[in-house]
Amino acid sequence: MSRFDNKVVAITGGSGGIGIAAGKLFSNEGAKVLLVDLNEDALKKAVAEIGSDNVSYAVADVTVADQVEGYTNLAVERYGGLDILLANAGIEGNVMPITAYPTETFEKVLAVNVTGVFLGLKYAMPEMAKRGGGSIVITSSVAGVKGGPGLCAYTTSKHAVIGLMRSASNEGAPIGVRVNTVNPAPVETRMMRSLEEGMAPGAADQAKVAMAATIPLGRYGEPSEVADMMAFLSSDAASFCTGGVYMVDGGSSSK
Ligand SMILES: NC(=O)c1ccc[n+]([C@@H]2O[C@H](COP(=O)([O-])OP(=O)(O)OC[C@H]3O[C@@H](n4cnc5c(N)ncnc54)[C@H](O)[C@@H]3O)[C@@H](O)[C@H]2O)c1
Repeated sequence: MSRFDNKVVAITGGSGGIGIAAGKLFSNEGAKVLLVDLNEDALKKAVAEIGSDNVSYAVADVTVADQVEGYTNLAVERYGGLDILLANAGIEGNVMPITAYPTETFEKVLAVNVTGVFLGLKYAMPEMAKRGGGSIVITSSVAGVKGGPGLCAYTTSKHAVIGLMRSASNEGAPIGVRVNTVNPAPVETRMMRSLEEGMAPGAADQAKVAMAATIPLGRYGEPSEVADMMAFLSSDAASFCTGGVYMVDGGSSSK
């Protein structure tokens, strides 16, 4: 018996670094996994990399209500229901001071990172209620509990989803749906390469060394380390955990 036998998981941002790591972990432990992301080729590559018959994909934009309803319905049609949602899709926006920050980028980051999560909750919670409950894990960030220069849209969005999570955990409790956030510090994915380049154009390697040095454990996290927390929060071992902010940050938020 594996931890996620007979469980159906939808993972948004499913072809990204953390999404693939989560797809691997959940499918290895028995779940049926639907990876949700924007680009079909990238999704096909992600499914091939995970290499399990338990994994398939849906092309959807998390900012478009019909498409979110669509991937939710697809999980139900393909696998019989939905038990777990990892609301993980996200974009970083630009690295710029507020005074220079493009308004359209600010709005885009909020659309993906906040509205995308809201829509995920809106369509997933009723499906989970039909199964007697479920678990939703939202990927926030260390930028959800701390501020810093240059990342106003991202920081705002990752704080905002903690508010969404707290609302949803209260509304979910009577129907058996637990809702939590995971809050990683820098993790080894495409997103950090983009942020390093944004912080130090042409000197991304030095930016990485400097950033890693600010983390008490002295390094970035691995996608699998975030996936491990997602799996714990989605499992029966976390049956009394809802409404919580779970740091996976090498100690960053302790400073
Ligand atoms: N990498 C880090 O250091 C780090 C740290 C803290 C939090 N996070 C968060 O982790 C999550 C996953 O990021 P990652 O590190 O795997 O980066 P990533 O860029 O590898 O993955 C993000 C994925 O989200 C997808 N996505 C973007 N917009 C979308 C949309 N509108 N609809 C559907 N999918 C969309 C992208 O195509 C991409 O595959 C994000 O929410 C990110 O903010 C990452």
